[in-house]
Amino acid sequence: MKEQVQIFDTTLRDGEQVPGCKLGTAQKIEIARELELLGVDVIEAGFPVSSPGDFEAVQQIASIIQNTTVCALSRAVEKDIESAAEALKYAQNGRIHTGIGTSDFHIFQKLNSSRKAVIEQGVKAVKKARNLCAEVEFYAEDAGRTDNFFLAQVVEAMIDAGARIINIPDTTGYCLPHQYGEKIAFLMNHVPNIDRAVLSTHCHNDLGLATANSIAGVQAGARQVECTINGVGERAGNTSLEEVVMILRQHRQIQLSTNIKTEQLTQISRIVEAEMNMPVQRNKAIVGENAFAHSSGIHQDGVIKSRETYEIIDPKEVGASNSQIILTARSGRAALKYRAKLLQIELNKDQLNDAYDRFLEVADQQRQISDFQLKELLNNVLVCHAR
Ligand code: KIV
Ligand code: ZN
Repeated sequence: MKEQVQIFDTTLRDGEQVPGCKLGTAQKIEIARELELLGVDVIEAGFPVSSPGDFEAVQQIASIIQNTTVCALSRAVEKDIESAAEALKYAQNGRIHTGIGTSDFHIFQKLNSSRKAVIEQGVKAVKKARNLCAEVEFYAEDAGRTDNFFLAQVVEAMIDAGARIINIPDTTGYCLPHQYGEKIAFLMNHVPNIDRAVLSTHCHNDLGLATANSIAGVQAGARQVECTINGVGERAGNTSLEEVVMILRQHRQIQLSTNIKTEQLTQISRIVEAEMNMPVQRNKAIVGENAFAHSSGIHQDGVIKSRETYEIIDPKEVGASNSQIILTARSGRAALKYRAKLLQIELNKDQLNDAYDRFLEVADQQRQISDFQLKELLNNVLVCHAR
């Protein structure tokens, strides 16, 4: 029996911290609705104390969304927690996400505090949040660079104070997958009250390891993954939701599943791309424009014979259009014949050879051949052969 991993989407909070990607309330509501339909378990809707606009967006999303938990971020500061609770007042299922930096960099250089004082401040914040909201998540900011023994003390204290979800952010994207996995395993084995909480991954992508680290985290016992659509987020971004979900689906031996309706992944990716004005790189895993496109002759021949030769995911599973055979100078006869057939043009052997020679002449001059050009080229071949 597979265990569930909760998907905590933070596109509207951490994702929206990207410069130039500010969303209005109406856009946030539209994305929140799509996230609910997608099947995410938690939507982090914003950071209410940060601005009146963020407060309003969280408040409206909390009153509209019915089936998904709506979460609001706060620092471990009274006025933040009060603002988060107020914004979540009408939520069916609300969660306050509060926390504080726990690495020595944060404690001594940012907060000018001490380890003891940070634990005290965290405990106070969690207790305050628990008085105002039924569900509280605690984040240990920069947990990726926090000493594991100290982190275990922090986690134990926050669980005792009432936090039911403990977020272990690799805020700077520093960890290697085995280190992040070992950190989660360490907490699972050294925190005496860990059975009363769920550990959550929250990985940034500064070294391109956010997805790998999140997977290492769930393999070590975390049961919530914090992520964003298209991996949007500060600097190099957050863990990409679609990557985590499809990895768990592809690798069934991990024995973990999510509630995500994967056939909606491409559509929501396009919506977030457009609303945030944040283009998705063409070769982005799962949702990039080239994710199911094949241009070299050897690969095209394989895919035409059997899709599985060069594709591990059926494009339909993620709501993408069919595998694409792109005609370029590296394409072979099989691809040309296949594309001609899609245009309802059947070619015999001589016609195909002739068409291929003409095609290569054009393809050498340009990157890609469009359907329009192809049709014209093939019609010319058919006319010549009919004479
Ligand atoms: O990256 C991080 O540490 C965060 C926390 C505020 C949860 O986004
Ligand atoms: Zn973050």
